[in-house]
Amino acid sequence: MKTRFGPQKIMFPCPVSLVVTGTIEQANIVTIAWVSLLTSKPPTLGISVGTRGFSGEAIKKNKDFSVNIVPAEIMKEADFCGIRSGKDMDKFEESGLTPIASQHIQSPIIKECPLNFECRLTQWSLIGQTNHFVGEIQETYVDTQKLKDPGELSSIDIDAINPLIYIGGAREYRHMGAKAGDAYTIGNELKK
Ligand SMILES: Cc1cc2nc3c(=O)[nH]c(=O)nc-3n(C[C@H](O)[C@H](O)[C@H](O)COP(=O)(O)O)c2cc1C
Repeated sequence: MKTRFGPQKIMFPCPVSLVVTGTIEQANIVTIAWVSLLTSKPPTLGISVGTRGFSGEAIKKNKDFSVNIVPAEIMKEADFCGIRSGKDMDKFEESGLTPIASQHIQSPIIKECPLNFECRLTQWSLIGQTNHFVGEIQETYVDTQKLKDPGELSSIDIDAINPLIYIGGAREYRHMGAKAGDAYTIGNELKK
């Protein structure tokens, strides 16, 4: 049996990301759980940003943003950036997070996040009350000590990254669980 709820916005797990827009001198951070890779060539990321906050207009004006994946160690800082507005404060200063200048865009990346993407805004649409931004990835950074084999992106140590996970609906944060299997492989066990 299944219980019907009609059209609802519930999803899990969601990565917790911090999206930064602005300049190294004056940047804002917003917590965004509605983030996804969209395409591979060119590599693009999509983010959904509400129209009520500070960040939607800032991204439209600045035409770029960085996406920074949050480790569980900075859960409180990430939550803070999701319950305060850049309209009222400098969230870098208040949270203690550290901006680092990007290479290809104006918006800085965040030092305390182990995986960072520099994105240039290429498309934007308004769906109801939400902006949907498409950013073409210009650069990707991983903390070197989180790579098992330096220089090899696929060797990323996911346990060391310790990504914070958001459970929509229940509105709670979780840690990532243990490895369940090898993707693109384990399904072969069903082949006749
Ligand atoms: C865990 C979490 C996830 C969030 N995800 C999103 C999201 O995907 N899109 C969005 O527009 N707001 C999201 N928010 C809310 C914004 O972060 C919040 O409205 C923020 O205060 C806006 O900041 P700003 O005014 O500086 O842009 C989230 C908040 C939290 C705590």
